Amino acid sequence: MSYKKNNIINAKILAYYENNKRDLPWRTKQDNNQNPYLTLVSEIMLQQTQVNTVLGYYEKFIKKWPDLNSLAKANIEEVLTMWSGLGYYSRAKNLLKAAQIISDKHNGTIPNKFEDLMRLPGIGQYTASAIISFAFGGYSVVMDTNIKRFIIRVNGLKKNEILNNCKVNEIGKQMFPKSNSGKYAQAIMDFSSDICTKRNPSCSKCILKNYCKFDLKSENSYERKKVKKKYSLVYFYLLKNKSFFLKKRSLSGALAGMYEVPGTVWKNNSWPEVPIKLKSIDALPKTIRYKMSNIELQTKIYKVNIRNKNDIKELGIWTNYSGLSSLPVSVLTKKIINCCVNEQ
Ligand code: ADE
Repeated sequence: MSYKKNNIINAKILAYYENNKRDLPWRTKQDNNQNPYLTLVSEIMLQQTQVNTVLGYYEKFIKKWPDLNSLAKANIEEVLTMWSGLGYYSRAKNLLKAAQIISDKHNGTIPNKFEDLMRLPGIGQYTASAIISFAFGGYSVVMDTNIKRFIIRVNGLKKNEILNNCKVNEIGKQMFPKSNSGKYAQAIMDFSSDICTKRNPSCSKCILKNYCKFDLKSENSYERKKVKKKYSLVYFYLLKNKSFFLKKRSLSGALAGMYEVPGTVWKNNSWPEVPIKLKSIDALPKTIRYKMSNIELQTKIYKVNIRNKNDIKELGIWTNYSGLSSLPVSVLTKKIINCCVNEQ
């Protein structure tokens, strides 16, 4: 892209932002002097999650832990409980760890150097660049999926160029202005959310239509549709009077530290074996289907009345429905419990 055309596009994007900037609670007027802690929390929440979903969680999180030092003193179970339903729970674990490291090793001040930020758990290239430019006013090329899509489209990049990440980053670097790069990045984020959307972009009313090389028809030909792998599993809703048992997952691995209804292993092409002594118990008639980013689960639930709570030896907790609000549980776990409670 020529220097002149690049300048026109950037000026149009910034003008669009002046008139349409979303009023988001972590933002400031200048977009280069945001509070570093609010920037850290919001950008971690925004990894893999849409703004509208994040807003409610962000508000509650900041109310409970308004600054880094208060967060550093929290325990993992509280943070996971606050995160319940937001998904990708390792983000919560890493955010707490990062806050503790910043509190211990950086006197509670969020570092303003890219390398120091990158050393913190859960902070990668994207989040480090966002903090540098949104909070500290430094120059950085911020590349999230929306910004990448914008750069690919406006430059009319072809399949082989798109698959070459370095090429996209190189073009992004050329396009980003050297001053106020944070404002430019957030402007593209808003523009992508309103106009240059992933599906059905509003090309006909786009302010860049005379400058953009995007061709909707060509995009469809290389957008690979992800095929979700399917798994089946069985859950056991262990019930004693009004309490049910939730197993605590270990503090490492997926969904670390979360509570869940105990279940079998996941099977790819058939239902997993159920222990013989549970076979006499009927499964609930409902199966729950649950989609994640790359897999699809179908689950059966067995409701098992337990005679003596001490018979359950696994690490976990007996709770009733109202106790759920103070436990870290995933959306799927909540779905399973709701299904069982409604059958009771
Ligand atoms: N997505 C990720 N970071 C964002 C931000 N700062 N504003 C809007 N959308 C975003």
